[in-house]
Amino acid sequence: SDENGLLLLVDKRNYLPNSFVPSDLVPLKKNNDYAISRTDLSLRVCVEEALQKMALGAKEDGISTLVVSSTYRSYDYQKTVYERNVKQMGKEAADRESAAPGTSQHQTGTAIDFGSITDEFAETKSGKWLAENCWKYGFIIRYPKWYTQVTGYEYEPWHIRYIGVKHAKRMKKVSLQTLEGYLNKIERVSFLL
Ligand code: DAL
Ligand code: ZN
Repeated sequence: SDENGLLLLVDKRNYLPNSFVPSDLVPLKKNNDYAISRTDLSLRVCVEEALQKMALGAKEDGISTLVVSSTYRSYDYQKTVYERNVKQMGKEAADRESAAPGTSQHQTGTAIDFGSITDEFAETKSGKWLAENCWKYGFIIRYPKWYTQVTGYEYEPWHIRYIGVKHAKRMKKVSLQTLEGYLNKIERVSFLL
């Protein structure tokens, strides 16, 4: 049921090779729906389309323009980011908030970071709106609060991952918070069928 590879599990146990680059990346351009904080952003086509819809939905709900801060990151770029973090805070702390190359959602072209990329984002209107509404547009908060043991990362209220509307709605319906938990459930159910 994973059309388009949207359920691809990438985490501390499931690595992408450095050659992995999504085939349908599109650059994010200046537009009236959402703001971009830099000019080198890109996402998979269906993710950019969903972002556009979500940004319009946010506006309709009176939320000021969503600001996109980070999107697709290549394996090599993630390597630079991760190594900088390890240098600054040590490996143990870095591993709680920065993905080693090959393990970032950003390499899949389906992850978006918004706004300040800090914990304070959770308290902003945009942060609260995203937490409540992103599932309607096919996104999940990939690193939810209280689930560090499952995801391997601390809470990231600014980071969402696209899995498509069908699956995001199902996750919401069965009250599952993590992609790991959801995929586990799907596997168990299909085993029983
Ligand atoms: N901050 C997330 C875990 C990443 O580096 O992909
Ligand atoms: Zn992120």
